[in-house]
Amino acid sequence: MALKHPGGPTGPDRDVPVNPLYTRDDIQIPRHQMPEGEIEPDTAFQIVHDELMLDGNARLNMATFVTTYMEPQAGALMAECRDKNMIDKDEYPQTAIMELRCVSILADLWSAPDAERAMGCSTTGSSEACMLAGLALKRRWQQRRKAAGLPYDKPNLVMGVNVQVCWEKFANYFEVEPRYVPMQGDRFHLGAPEAVALCDENTIGVVAILGSTFDGSYEPVEEICAALDTLHAGGGPDVPVHVDGASGAMIAPFLDPDLVWDFRLPRVASINTSGHKYGLVYPGVGWVVWRDDEALPKELVFRVNYLGGEMPTFALNFSRPGAQVIAQYYNFLRLGREGYRRVQQNCRNVATYLSAHIAEQGPFELLTKGDELPVFAFKVRAEETRFNVFDVARGLRERGWLLPAYTFPAERTDLEVMRVVVRNGFSHDLADVLLEDLRRLCERLKEQPHPMAGPAAGGFHH
Ligand SMILES: Cc1ncc(COP(=O)(O)O)c(C=O)c1O
Repeated sequence: MALKHPGGPTGPDRDVPVNPLYTRDDIQIPRHQMPEGEIEPDTAFQIVHDELMLDGNARLNMATFVTTYMEPQAGALMAECRDKNMIDKDEYPQTAIMELRCVSILADLWSAPDAERAMGCSTTGSSEACMLAGLALKRRWQQRRKAAGLPYDKPNLVMGVNVQVCWEKFANYFEVEPRYVPMQGDRFHLGAPEAVALCDENTIGVVAILGSTFDGSYEPVEEICAALDTLHAGGGPDVPVHVDGASGAMIAPFLDPDLVWDFRLPRVASINTSGHKYGLVYPGVGWVVWRDDEALPKELVFRVNYLGGEMPTFALNFSRPGAQVIAQYYNFLRLGREGYRRVQQNCRNVATYLSAHIAEQGPFELLTKGDELPVFAFKVRAEETRFNVFDVARGLRERGWLLPAYTFPAERTDLEVMRVVVRNGFSHDLADVLLEDLRRLCERLKEQPHPMAGPAAGGFHH
């Protein structure tokens, strides 16, 4: 009997019967244990390759924010660097230098007062970047409290209930009380007065998201900072802000240059982004930048010398692939500001086109339009009682489209929505095909007496 991870997805349990490809031998290989012997590389390749055919098509995955298209030249560079470990900075000094250049480019893009003094690093993604930023906030708060002779054992972090799960993880793993501002009415993200109301002397920071994973909307970072300025001016605590720009920090600088959300606001201590989202790199790279070296406590930075040099490192992982960092640098070089602007503008154009036409179809009502992040959420109108968003998600899947359907968090758990993430490579042409498929599906769903599908078991992971 094959061994199987108890929590793993269900699937066939019997051994893998390998049908002969042309004239190869007919063999059986255990599915959940390491086989005793070897098989030919071509046979192994074919088995894995064939099973992967059942995965969804990444380009039709409208659920993910993560890059699914890069130029072949970027792919070639990544293949060239796939054996480089990012941590071996002494061995791969040029890769290390390119990482530093990327940090300076981002610090400059996000208006750091002195891009040379801004501190930052690459990470595996925004989740790791958020852990590091959260740790820096916690440590700075502890230092301030210690210096003032005050207790420092009850830190809390204020954020909207719409934060991505990485912030729940941060609070849990690093023992910080999470203080969530619930959604209310048509406010689907953090509001400034609501954030301030939850702050006290134990607040290590406020997280503002640009923009929200649930509906693509930008949180009002400038307003939140202004409200915190007022709190401090009135004798209240001086609370720093971290901007979770997982997606928006690579959209707003190009499409919304007048929106003030970054280091132009003195209260913003740090910013993260996912290089693998609108940084336009394949999965595996994130970034975090602190406004200056004061915002990053020195004792969090480790110095390692056993790789042949004295290197500062701030990361949760030690080894990490270098290829994604190289690909990020390639994109910065290749696209420049104007290239990024054009790519992101095209995504926004497709998103707003798609949302407008979905709204016109009748059964749907938009929550957002895709004019901030190129991401929008919509719901089935209350009057439409024959189907729900889960029926729509299931029906679209038959054509290969992957659109998530999910319920909103507290206090709007009554709201069932679908979300579309438009990424580079999703053309107007594909948008038209999706619209037509959606229209045809709705005609069919209107023949149902009532909704047939419910939330997927385990829910949708944002
Ligand atoms: C706002 C926000 N923060 C953090 C994350 C986590 O990012 P990553 O997947 O790069 O770890 C996401 C992912 O969707 C996000 O939308």
